[in-house]
Amino acid sequence: MSRGLILGIESSCDETAAAVVERGARALSSVVASQITTHARYGGVVPELASREHLRAIVPVVRAALAEAQITLADLDAIAVTSGPGLAGALLVGITYAKALAFAQGLPLIAVNHLEGHIHAVLLQQRESATAEASSALDGTGRNSSDSPGNQSALALVVSGGHTHLYLARPTAGIWHYTLIGRTLDDAAGEAYDKVAKLLGLGYPGGPWIDALARFGDPLAVPFSFSQIKTKLHLAGKAPRTKAAKTAPIANLDPHFLFSFSGIKTAVLRYVELHTMREESAARVSQMLALPRLPQTKQEALALCPQATLDLIASFQHAVVGDLLKKTFAAAESLDASRILVTGGVAANRELRTRFTAEAARRHLEIAFPTLALSTDNAAMIAAAAWPRFQAGEFATQDLSANPSLALGR
Ligand code: KG4
Ligand code: ZN
Repeated sequence: MSRGLILGIESSCDETAAAVVERGARALSSVVASQITTHARYGGVVPELASREHLRAIVPVVRAALAEAQITLADLDAIAVTSGPGLAGALLVGITYAKALAFAQGLPLIAVNHLEGHIHAVLLQQRESATAEASSALDGTGRNSSDSPGNQSALALVVSGGHTHLYLARPTAGIWHYTLIGRTLDDAAGEAYDKVAKLLGLGYPGGPWIDALARFGDPLAVPFSFSQIKTKLHLAGKAPRTKAAKTAPIANLDPHFLFSFSGIKTAVLRYVELHTMREESAARVSQMLALPRLPQTKQEALALCPQATLDLIASFQHAVVGDLLKKTFAAAESLDASRILVTGGVAANRELRTRFTAEAARRHLEIAFPTLALSTDNAAMIAAAAWPRFQAGEFATQDLSANPSLALGR
């Protein structure tokens, strides 16, 4: 009998990843080769370098994922690959390799949307724990996996370096359907983190640095008002302006659930200029390159940034998390959703997890986040999202190509 083993391959941005997942409910391996050191000196992802690094990493990463799962190619039932959205050249490396493997092994190929993958990072873990609970319940009263939250509808906030999208995810007869509820009109939340970090001379990617430093600042020191990150109501229904905003249409969306993070980035820039923090930020760049790890204590944070900068960082994060929280819970209320999933790189943020968890408890809603490893890009989420498609026989053909602006849902 087939074990339902899917090899997932992900190469949409700056991580080369491969994983083996059993029946969409148990990760046997998840290997991620990060390109952070390659891109760090440029303060952002350089697409040409990303493709080159994927080419270098793809074969050893897939080999490592099979070895970690203690299987060979012959044990696989299918190969799943991210087909978009993402960087064209980067996506093509994963797609071409997946196609070649599928052809050589005579296996079905499954194309997965990267955003759907992020949602399944949480669903995979929920199914994983439901299966574990069911098998450990000796009296048979344990939750069986079909009751698992991993198989139930939820409002999903996908918040990463490339995306800030709200979806209603619903399973019908095992097939997942996604309705777009809201999204950013310009920058993604993670992009704002990365740009503000760069402006302040912090490391790349910026999210983890801001997360680590914000704990030592006063979140109310700089009053970034919501009007600075307000939704641009007048844009609703019109064509999006930026590349990041292309991945989904905005017509017919409720403007209350639209995000905009380019305003706060400009507000931070103005604040830095007004308070002559420019030189101090520029001086930090060389310090960052020599710094081995994120600051853990107030003393370490102060060795890196004066208190005023820590306050600015804390205030920026407080405003961004507050805006994500306000709109996500407003959408949950309007849709009468009882479950919320938060996923993507920014879901690793400590303040976000704490505040979303407290708000969900206050409103008696269920909330779930992926583990830190599954919050950022990985291939276990791709293999997990592919399982329902495998069961439905929804296979891609050998002419599958990269779709850099692939949309999810409508
Ligand atoms: O999901 P991901 O790995 O890639 C995309 O699909 O974009 O997300 C990367 C993004 C980056 O912008 C990074 O700064 C942000 O996630 N990020 C964080 C944290 N860890 C990663 N943002 C805030 N707090 C964090 N702890
Ligand atoms: Zn991602």
